[in-house]
Amino acid sequence: RKKLLIDVDCGVDDAQAIMLALAAPNVKVLGITCVHGNTNVENVCKNTLRVLKACHKLEIPVFKGADKPILGKGINAGHFHGLDGLGDVPDPDAPGLDLIQKEGAVSAMIRLVDKNPGEISLVATAPLTNLALAVRLDPSFPSKLKGLFIMGGNTESRGNTTVCAEFNFVADPEAAFIVLNEYLCPTTIACWEFTCHSKLSWEFCGTWLSQDSEKARFMRQIFAYSMKASESGRLKKEFVAGTGLVSCDSYAMAAAIDENIILESDLYPLTVELTGTYTRGMMVMDTIDILKKTHKIKVMKKINLDRFMELMMDSLK
Ligand code: BDR
Ligand code: CA
Repeated sequence: RKKLLIDVDCGVDDAQAIMLALAAPNVKVLGITCVHGNTNVENVCKNTLRVLKACHKLEIPVFKGADKPILGKGINAGHFHGLDGLGDVPDPDAPGLDLIQKEGAVSAMIRLVDKNPGEISLVATAPLTNLALAVRLDPSFPSKLKGLFIMGGNTESRGNTTVCAEFNFVADPEAAFIVLNEYLCPTTIACWEFTCHSKLSWEFCGTWLSQDSEKARFMRQIFAYSMKASESGRLKKEFVAGTGLVSCDSYAMAAAIDENIILESDLYPLTVELTGTYTRGMMVMDTIDILKKTHKIKVMKKINLDRFMELMMDSLK
């Protein structure tokens, strides 16, 4: 089975991505590392445990990571995911934070990858702070990964958080820079515009959510808040040509589960703008090879939507 490590800022689409991995018969999730992002890292830890509980997989170890970006104070996405990151639905039976491992996220990542060199794919669906810290502590860390799958960045300078930048990158631009420039392992990225162009219809979403299962009940609860936000005016514009279900993090996860799901992609040298007044955190794609970077990253362009819907349906069964 494919060994995955998942780095999350467990908002609603991270939850959906985690559930895809947990339901995939060809995948073994070795651990989930948490980082700031959609909400603070304590909430991210809590949310991750709630997802694991809904899937009866609390035996998977969860590790707490960075609560701030490399520089600055950090941002959150409470307006979209709810202040607690998971739709602000009270959950009196949520597992306690005592279930979080004592070992920190970054050291766990390094340890697990050391133990399984060349075998683990890392799926990062959050600001890349933990990954940046990992390569600082162990410069050989990326070379021991089988692959890296990222949700983040943007290809058409279309932002969802600032004018020009996507949330995961602008939440820690320095970390994104370090990862794109220093993780020289096979890397695949699902960028914001691609996810918007790959949206699923609300009709599919209805069928997906109305399944009769504990997982679907859980998803109906946590997703109600951000579904409303997706239909609001501002997000309509962001979501490119009408609304629909855009489970951003699930696209990176689907590629990690089944690389054949990618129907079209291109290899580009990528980096990140760090200094622009309007463009800080924007992904920079060197389409004409000006930067002479040898490391190229697979930028997803088209996904097999039928297969994607199948994975999504299975994740709530
Ligand atoms: C990304 O930002 C977060 O809000 C989502 O979880 C996703 O990882 C989309 O820009
Ligand atoms: Ca996320």
